[in-house]
Amino acid sequence: MYSPSATRYDSPQFYRRCGRSGVQLPLISLGLWHNFGAKDSLDNARAIACRAFDLGITHFDLANNYGPPDGSAEETFGRILRDDLAQWRDELIISTKAGYYMWPGPYGEWGSRKYLLSSLDQSLRRMGLEYVDIFYSHRPDPDTPLEETMGALAQAVRSGKALYAGISNYQPAETASAAKILRELGTPCLIHQPRYSMLDRWIEPQLLATLEQEGIGSIVFSPLAKGLLTDRYFKGIPADSRAGHDTRFLRPADITEAVLAKTKKLNDFAQARGQSLAQMALAWVLRHKTVTSALIGASRVSQVDDCVGATRNLNFTGEELARIEKILA
Ligand SMILES: NC(=O)c1ccc[n+]([C@@H]2O[C@H](COP(=O)([O-])OP(=O)(O)OC[C@H]3O[C@@H](n4cnc5c(N)ncnc54)[C@H](OP(=O)(O)O)[C@@H]3O)[C@@H](O)[C@H]2O)c1
Repeated sequence: MYSPSATRYDSPQFYRRCGRSGVQLPLISLGLWHNFGAKDSLDNARAIACRAFDLGITHFDLANNYGPPDGSAEETFGRILRDDLAQWRDELIISTKAGYYMWPGPYGEWGSRKYLLSSLDQSLRRMGLEYVDIFYSHRPDPDTPLEETMGALAQAVRSGKALYAGISNYQPAETASAAKILRELGTPCLIHQPRYSMLDRWIEPQLLATLEQEGIGSIVFSPLAKGLLTDRYFKGIPADSRAGHDTRFLRPADITEAVLAKTKKLNDFAQARGQSLAQMALAWVLRHKTVTSALIGASRVSQVDDCVGATRNLNFTGEELARIEKILA
């Protein structure tokens, strides 16, 4: 019988306010995109989720299509909730999303009201929940009026099936428009979920400023560039790594000499700061106050421990940031 650590909330500085809202999120959140599918070890998934909660990670991020197969990560999490975490439901922020392909026919992907609201009902059933904390539009839909997609998020909130609305992968102008519509509907946008890491900096020129202006928080996904910003690939491609066994989104060909040359230099620099490369990469995304949380994935408990350790040193001097820029250039 799981019983969470009594010290899990001992560090109030581990939480950051999400935009102009009442919600605080942990600096490190756990995503269930990989390692929580039907073929993955349930015991390992359970150990990762419970260790995360022991360390103060209150936020677990899902989507309808996480698995494989699609939907199975929600089923796995539903099982962990029932067996281990149900008693602490009020201490958890659980999110899910709809936007990518989920079922055949014209109503199984993108941004229609029909798809979003049916998908949310399915997600709730798979997880055995009455409501999620955050429901996201997973990606913008160029062919559906933004009013319809945002209207569906607002309806999810008004019906009580979600507490807050969020958007993911929206460009700056789309974000501002979505924020305006949601505000007018009385269900303000809580959060944006964009990709962001040392190796992918598209949010820096405009999106962060838009979020700041709109009072929207952000949770940045793949802050470790799916494992590239760690020491995982320094001695080849381990069979149990993402590039070694689940090449849907990270192929062996992505582990190039050029990337390794950069990440090895970053690793030396991180060590000099007394951190692992993963820890420095997480501290680096969290240097923006508009970034509420870094959304990691993990294939084992020790990675969660290491990632949470990032919060022991979140500070960079101007000189250190300049050194990092030089390596990344
Ligand atoms: N909104 C969207 O469109 C979208 C898209 C993608 C992801 N996401 C969300 O973001 C979450 C995180 O994405 P991600 O898994 O790509 O994030 P990530 O944190 O960049 O990569 C996670 C991988 O890095 C490795 N790792 C993690 N910590 C480590 C450590 N301390 N030392 C060494 N290696 C470490 C592990 O790789 P190994 O498995 O090789 O051990 C782990 O699976 C997802 O679960 C999902 O919730 C959202």
